[in-house]
Amino acid sequence: MTAEIIDGKAFAADIRARVAEQVAQLKAGHGITPGLAVVLVGEDPASQVYVKSKGRKTVEVGMESFEHRLPEETTEADLLALVAKLNADPAVHGILVQLPLPKHMNSDAVINAIDPAKDVDGFHVSNVGLLGTGQKAMVPCTPLGCLMMLRAQLGDLSGKEAVVIGRSNIVGKPMAHLLLGDSCTVSIAHSRTRDLANVVRRADIVVAAVGRPGMVTGDWIKPGATVIDVGINRIDAGEGKTRLVGDVEFDSASEVAGAITPVPGGVGPMTIACLLANTLTACCRANG
Ligand code: GUN
Repeated sequence: MTAEIIDGKAFAADIRARVAEQVAQLKAGHGITPGLAVVLVGEDPASQVYVKSKGRKTVEVGMESFEHRLPEETTEADLLALVAKLNADPAVHGILVQLPLPKHMNSDAVINAIDPAKDVDGFHVSNVGLLGTGQKAMVPCTPLGCLMMLRAQLGDLSGKEAVVIGRSNIVGKPMAHLLLGDSCTVSIAHSRTRDLANVVRRADIVVAAVGRPGMVTGDWIKPGATVIDVGINRIDAGEGKTRLVGDVEFDSASEVAGAITPVPGGVGPMTIACLLANTLTACCRANG
């Protein structure tokens, strides 16, 4: 079998186009421009790339982008003061504090200082609790993008066996809640899971989010399964070059799977598209 490639880049472009249409309507009809504030502390190179890309895409859909770049040595108190200012600013509908934060900061305290209604990452404990209890929440962008691709690919997910590899707060745990919400039978596997290959082998849906290049190989995949690869790992490609690979060994897995997301061009673009969709949602809720 050769898997169908799930084109996250095209899917994300479609979502952004729909967001842009609604932003244009909000502006023309109500004089409201959705605004997204992104806060980056420090010089982490990967975070800098993400933040730049977020800012560009925000402007492309017609929203206002507020970028705050703070030095590594910023105190937690200063960061909390900025968050309070953004919470109070009516032009800011969404707030994203890029993670990871420098080690001297308490990330939980910072995230939980964000107004839950502006928490477009869906990381605030209120939103985590709402999602966990099946209530209307701001949903974390990466798992939301994965769910949208799975629904588009498979239709009704009810009764499917899903295995999420990775138990992070950003991807693994919210992904499991979303799949449960769609009535999948969900397992969360992680570094202590025994016989991971056999756990993955029973899955109709595999979501890999562990950050280990090529860990999931084709012989772990049930024939015909849908594989969503959240991993973005930069590896040495020789001659001083690097390349991006996922957590799934694409060549072997795509011979067995029914459908698979590539890296790059799969989950990555969907994350930013969902961030913009969440910002639009936050803006609409703020304005009744
Ligand atoms: N760092 C890596 N992924 C994310 C994300 O989705 N949101 C934030 N705020 N930081 C991240």
